[in-house]
Amino acid sequence: MPTPTLPPLPELAHSFMLDPEIVYLNHGSFGACPRAVLEAQSAHRERVERDAMRFYIYDLWKVIDRSRTALGGLINAAPEDLVFVSNATSGVANVIANIDLKPGDEVLVTRFEYPACINNLRRACERAGAELVVVDLPWDPIDEDTVIDAIMGRVTDRTRLAMFSLITSATAVRMPVEQLIAELNARGVETLLDAAHGPGCVPMDIEAWGPTYCTGNAHKWLCSAKGCAFLYVHKNRQDGFRPVILSNDAYDIEPAIGRSGRSAFNHEFDYMGTDDRTPMLVVADAIETLGAFYPGGINELMDRNRAMCLEARNLMSDALGTEPLVPDSMLGPLAVIDIPAPGMDPRALRERLMEEFRIESMIVPNPGSDTPMIRVSPQVYNSMEQYRYCADAIRSIVGLS
Ligand SMILES: Cc1ncc(COP(=O)(O)O)c(C=O)c1O
Repeated sequence: MPTPTLPPLPELAHSFMLDPEIVYLNHGSFGACPRAVLEAQSAHRERVERDAMRFYIYDLWKVIDRSRTALGGLINAAPEDLVFVSNATSGVANVIANIDLKPGDEVLVTRFEYPACINNLRRACERAGAELVVVDLPWDPIDEDTVIDAIMGRVTDRTRLAMFSLITSATAVRMPVEQLIAELNARGVETLLDAAHGPGCVPMDIEAWGPTYCTGNAHKWLCSAKGCAFLYVHKNRQDGFRPVILSNDAYDIEPAIGRSGRSAFNHEFDYMGTDDRTPMLVVADAIETLGAFYPGGINELMDRNRAMCLEARNLMSDALGTEPLVPDSMLGPLAVIDIPAPGMDPRALRERLMEEFRIESMIVPNPGSDTPMIRVSPQVYNSMEQYRYCADAIRSIVGLS
């Protein structure tokens, strides 16, 4: 097979360790981490290896607070209301482990939630004899009001918790979370906001939104080291809220928190057994690094990523002759584009894009038809030239040129 000529890497891509022989178009699943952040992480690793005893027993608590404060500033949450876990899936699992579901209780999710998060809820419901209610959200067309009506229409007196994404995974819909949380709070239903695509992706304001729980990845749109997400728990639910993995101090917490001067909530999550905690220590470095890419800081970066996403979505829908699926008002920096190839296996298309065109992409099934869709999720290391190249590649595979 002849080697394709790839579009050149944009300037900022050189701040990352991306393979220049690949057109990397799937930041939304696993993004790249800037060299500067990886260097900061290496410095922490060296520190651990020089004196691990000192690091785990004395220093970890102090350095992790730097991440808590920086992240709290970005998403407008009090730093002490945040703890770190390895990923958003773990954030969801920790919340579920702290909800005492009873037989007959109902837990609401939408059909567009991330499978791992639904699976954790499903197991908890099955064990408790509770019901997992999957809301059949509309699709093509979709709009904010219909989404809110669909979810609120399934709330009953037995609804204990509602879990929904800030931006859904495979369908890339920016959900009307502000209104949803307000309406669910008014009905006395606890909310678990899955903001896996949250920090550094779209502006967030936890204090104003008022969820009961929220988890979100630092390793996605903040481009922080892999293995770091935050978990926010509202102050009035922190008492007795404990990690799935209990550590040494769990049943004798008072002396430990007396020494460290932090809440039991912070203390227990900060150390959950010996583990590589360096991803949690470079969140501030990631925020600083992303903030330095453009004069307008991370807000400009988020605006630019969204603008490139809309441009890429329009370019690709035009090139493929399909209609946009989601209104612009419901898009962040991720969008799906329908591909006019009924019956084509999404996995096969993804593999052909890689094998024949060196494109790493996210191809998903259209939930409303039998066509595949491509999800675009531009980051600073992508360019419109890459999306043009990708549109031409898909046209050639599906026989449009
Ligand atoms: C909406 C959503 N929730 C949760 C996750 C899981 O994230 P992680 O693999 O970091 O746990 C993803 C991953 O893509 C996601 O898109």
